[in-house]
Amino acid sequence: MLHRRAFVTGAGALGAAMLGTLRVSVGQGAAGTRRSVRGMDLNDPDLAAYRRGVAAMKALPASDARNWLRFAEIHATYCPHGNWYFLPWHRAYLVALENIIRDLADKPDFALPYWDWSTVRQLPAAFADGNARSNPLNHPRPGFPRTASLSDDMVGPQVMSRILASPDFEAFGSARPRGQNSIGVQWQRRDGAKTELEFNPHDGVHGTLGGDMADVAPASRDPIFYLHHANVDRLWAIWNARGNANSPEPMWRNFAFNRNFIDANGSPWNVSVNNLQSPAALGYRYDDDEGPFAADVDFQGTAAAADDPLGTSLQAYRRLGDRAAPQSGGLQRFGLPAGGAFYAAAADNHQAAAHERSISIPVSLGRPLSEIVKAVPMASASAAERRRDRQCVWAVLRDCEAPSDPSTRVRVFINREGVDPGARAADPHYVTSLSFFGAGHSDHRAQHGHHGHAQPAASTSTSVSIDLTPALTRLRGSRYLRTDKITIQLMPICRHANKSTSVMRPRRVEIAVL
Ligand code: C2O
Repeated sequence: MLHRRAFVTGAGALGAAMLGTLRVSVGQGAAGTRRSVRGMDLNDPDLAAYRRGVAAMKALPASDARNWLRFAEIHATYCPHGNWYFLPWHRAYLVALENIIRDLADKPDFALPYWDWSTVRQLPAAFADGNARSNPLNHPRPGFPRTASLSDDMVGPQVMSRILASPDFEAFGSARPRGQNSIGVQWQRRDGAKTELEFNPHDGVHGTLGGDMADVAPASRDPIFYLHHANVDRLWAIWNARGNANSPEPMWRNFAFNRNFIDANGSPWNVSVNNLQSPAALGYRYDDDEGPFAADVDFQGTAAAADDPLGTSLQAYRRLGDRAAPQSGGLQRFGLPAGGAFYAAAADNHQAAAHERSISIPVSLGRPLSEIVKAVPMASASAAERRRDRQCVWAVLRDCEAPSDPSTRVRVFINREGVDPGARAADPHYVTSLSFFGAGHSDHRAQHGHHGHAQPAASTSTSVSIDLTPALTRLRGSRYLRTDKITIQLMPICRHANKSTSVMRPRRVEIAVL
């Protein structure tokens, strides 16, 4: 518990240092506590204030920047997905909404409730109650009837464990745009790589609910959007509270979101990533910083320290970026200045997967896989030994052609003998499931620049970075690792069983061994 206390104290000091500037720009004072919507009475003061505030925003004229649809346009115009600005940008967006609601609903300590989908699998009652006319929080969600439930492979304990065990910020909150070399506004929406938090529960909940939620441009017209993102934001706060540090990179910290957001008066609110790192400094906290399934997540094994072997390779891998893109023909070694190395291999792909029609993409390593997967530390190993021996094996699916049906989920397996539609998360070869929210979303507004200043064009390709380590660990010692290949297998499952709207095709698969 010691490191955790130290972290909390540190964040407090940082928060105090930043408050001076934030008070001016954010404007509102009282700290609110964001609470779980689970078990909230329909008349809970925060829910009631949200209802009043949303109704008031909907009633404002379109000439007012706080008008509900105008506010939703902020998301359509600026939201980054698939890169390392995903978390801080959406954090700022929620803070902006919270400030407006505090004012319009006249509740200075209002805090957004969060939808902890890991434990509340159905749509919270306050959002399904009545109809869109009688209840300002109701909204058409054709993919998700009141009785439907989110699945374990999207929001269950294994998923949360994988997310919270991410070894660095870019493994947790999606990776930097490929080739980024400045903090120019053009990088805000360029493709990096989505990681599990984004490609699985975040994208999955969007795609599963359907309607506006399933499409980037109108997504935030649905009032549930903000509770969904409050939970994503809470997972970030939880990951930090476990002692994991955000990215130290200046290209991340110094990036500014200028003229994206508004304050409670509807005037521009400019904020940089550096000022979005601490909920406390922004005027809110969460009622629970332990997180879902806390007992199942390995507390010791999370952060890679900057000076341990994994931390050093991670930094080198991140900084090399595209220059680490390997050719096909086996693992290539990338030596580190301080000794040690990481390895990468790649294979191009032309095959397309579709509903119940899987593809297998072999990436040859040029040496036995069983040599690459290190011995897993014994349960009895000390924390230091476990850190020293820690290893990550990732698959990056580059430039994916994404299914046009947002309900499509793509199950990922490795080294299985054939993949059939019956193979699921309990299978030892199962890795994870992908959804594709916002793939191919291109923003026409970016060209017209309706505010008369530079706007970041959205990227049209999607890459995902998948942690293979848990599956490889499970398969260790089995004949499936007695090969010199990692074979990535993709099985799309589409609710509408439509082969043409569920097509998924990565252009290239890269394997990184760190
Ligand atoms: Cu920018 Cu969940 O969306």
